[in-house]
Amino acid sequence: MKIIGVGSVVPQKVLTNAMLEEFLDTSDEWITERTGISERRIITSELLEDMASEAARRAIADAGLAATDIDYIICSNVVNEYITPSMSCIIQGAIGAKCACVDVNAACSGFIYALDMADDRIKSGKAKNILVVAAEEPTRMVDWADRALCVLFGDGAGAVVVTEGEGYIASRLTTASKTSCLYYQRRLEPTPYITKEEKSAPMYMNGRDVFKTAVLSSSRDITALLKQTGLVPADIKHYVLHQANMRIVEAIASYLKLDMSHFPHNVERRGNTSSASIPLLLDELYQEGRLQRGDKILMSAFGAGFTTGACIFEWTK
Ligand code: COA
Repeated sequence: MKIIGVGSVVPQKVLTNAMLEEFLDTSDEWITERTGISERRIITSELLEDMASEAARRAIADAGLAATDIDYIICSNVVNEYITPSMSCIIQGAIGAKCACVDVNAACSGFIYALDMADDRIKSGKAKNILVVAAEEPTRMVDWADRALCVLFGDGAGAVVVTEGEGYIASRLTTASKTSCLYYQRRLEPTPYITKEEKSAPMYMNGRDVFKTAVLSSSRDITALLKQTGLVPADIKHYVLHQANMRIVEAIASYLKLDMSHFPHNVERRGNTSSASIPLLLDELYQEGRLQRGDKILMSAFGAGFTTGACIFEWTK
């Protein structure tokens, strides 16, 4: 499998730390020091499905294909306005594709899980051109009176088109069920027969626990992938890590004894956009001309579950 097209979309509204200070007991200093985030993009009048479809159109155009050339769509998504149908079905209709579609929810690791599913499908010969989209609106999952959480997130959608080729070198997915440290719960419709107690709760996160788990698990995945492929840390041109917190990225760089020049980041302008963060950053690097043919890129993500996903691929465009 290789990547032949990339595209992304973020909402119009820029929400700065100073704007958060207007209604929260917080400060630009606290947010910047603890997270590296200065501003984020946040959905106002946009629909996530429109952003996802536009990111998909851009990736397909970048690949030089038509929507009818796509023969499978995988969308990574945690929430949107519909429980069903899936986001990928909505994207299919909006872009005019005709293929089978499926959504995956592996939280912030979802884009890597979706890429890996695409690789399997291409290897099995069941599909040739696959659209992988990650579309997320985590700002709709948090309590906006909770200063510890709402300052962290932003919204966005990123997409890639993959096809047969020699770009995807190795991958590693892990899950360790740890549902109590990070979750978002929604009450379902009542029935006359429900006797159990049910609740809706905005996102809960034990920040310190997640921080530690994220650094340890991502460092472990990266080390394992390098070992498996016989590469050393400096062989990787770009470590495109899930953009949750600048301190997490810095801790992983320090663990690998690499300087930050190998670790592109946009968390300072985008916040944590869940599984969309990696394709958003990849598209930025691509648009800025920072990806050269032959560059080895390592992507690594972690998220609720606790899930992790990492892969190494070569830039072949
Ligand atoms: N502004 C000002 N003060 C804040 C604040 C905010 N936005 N949010 C929390 N605080 C306060 C807390 O109330 C606490 O005050 P106290 O000491 O009086 O009780 C203090 O700051 C320290 O809070 P704590 O939660 O211990 O801070 P922290 O150093 O762990 O940083 C996070 C908090 C969330 C930034 C950090 O834990 C983190 O980034 N975790 C990982 C999050 C993540 O990556 N999640 C996504 C996974 S996909």
